[in-house]
Amino acid sequence: MSDSAFNQLIPYLKDTNIRSLWLADENLLSANLRPNDAVTVIANRIDLEQQLQKQDWKVLFSDYDFSIIEDNSLDQVIYRISKEKLVVHHIINEAFRCLKEDGQLILAGDKGEGIKTYFSKAKKLFGEGESSKADKDTWLAILSKHNEVSNKQLDDKNYHELRVTCSDTQHESSFEYYSKPGVFGWDKIDKGSAYLIENLDSFLMTLIEPPKNALDLGCGYGYLSLNLSYLDIPVVATDNNAAAIKACERNFDRYPINGKVIAASCAEGITEKFDLIVCNPPFHAGFSVDGDLTDRFLKAAHDRLHSRGVACFVTNIHIPIERKAHQYFHQAECIMSNGNFKLVRLTHKM
Ligand SMILES: C[S@@+](CC[C@H](N)C(=O)[O-])C[C@H]1O[C@@H](n2cnc3c(N)ncnc32)[C@H](O)[C@@H]1O
Repeated sequence: MSDSAFNQLIPYLKDTNIRSLWLADENLLSANLRPNDAVTVIANRIDLEQQLQKQDWKVLFSDYDFSIIEDNSLDQVIYRISKEKLVVHHIINEAFRCLKEDGQLILAGDKGEGIKTYFSKAKKLFGEGESSKADKDTWLAILSKHNEVSNKQLDDKNYHELRVTCSDTQHESSFEYYSKPGVFGWDKIDKGSAYLIENLDSFLMTLIEPPKNALDLGCGYGYLSLNLSYLDIPVVATDNNAAAIKACERNFDRYPINGKVIAASCAEGITEKFDLIVCNPPFHAGFSVDGDLTDRFLKAAHDRLHSRGVACFVTNIHIPIERKAHQYFHQAECIMSNGNFKLVRLTHKM
């Protein structure tokens, strides 16, 4: 699917011969561009990194970690704004630090995504800039680094810092969760995930024997994994987002979890089979709703579930996930709901 905002950036990526950095995110998961040696890419999604690497781009997978880039060293930074405000603020601040005097930050985004507000904040930081309407909703903004230093940094809530953002007690275990900006729902406990954990015991009663291992598919900062620890079984937590992996690793280090954290898209590359899979699946990739993503999560659960195993998906009650799940599973049934969320039990034919 073509993204009008990203299309504005293509000429800068294709034709440039000055030292440039491109920040790529999940809005561009289907990007297919000829590589340019003048451009280094940082991608925060592992699937995007792998795809760009296959196309021969110089690409790094990180949580937008610019620490390898010296101050005042870049000519150009190219960025289609992301969905999370704090990610955008972090990238604008870091672009300012890394650009040379008169170096340019090229930003694109839609009006409804806040591009005009980002532009006006960035202009105060940079000192100079122009924006133009590229089509009905899309804007292109070019900021030039005029100020050598500035105290107009945007508030990114200390982007890289892992900190305790919330806590709770379930199954007699209390946890303080480390998280950071850039992670899904980074400063709260997702209500759907909490519903899954509150009802895990009743769910497990439907199993013939206790699970011997578990997979947390799309783990975020690791809420579900941590709350499986009372089962005392090995847990694999996986996500495609670099920020989520960093936060989940920190939570696994902090508590005695018998498990590992793996960066992967829809568990790709994980070959183990699991008795229990827990998942609160995503429905958006960046700004767009991605119907395929649900299919890929269901397929991943199908592929990774042991024949005797059971997968538990939690979703909003209005999402007809059972219908899609029937393509992959022998049984897909809603086993409980609370008016907002439902738990869907997925099993193979034994
Ligand atoms: C609704 S959140 C649930 C997060 C976490 N399990 C929780 O309960 O708080 C969905 C998660 O799926 C991750 N995700 C999105 N696309 C993915 C993909 N292609 N592969 C793996 N994880 C993905 C997101 O980064 C996010 O952490």
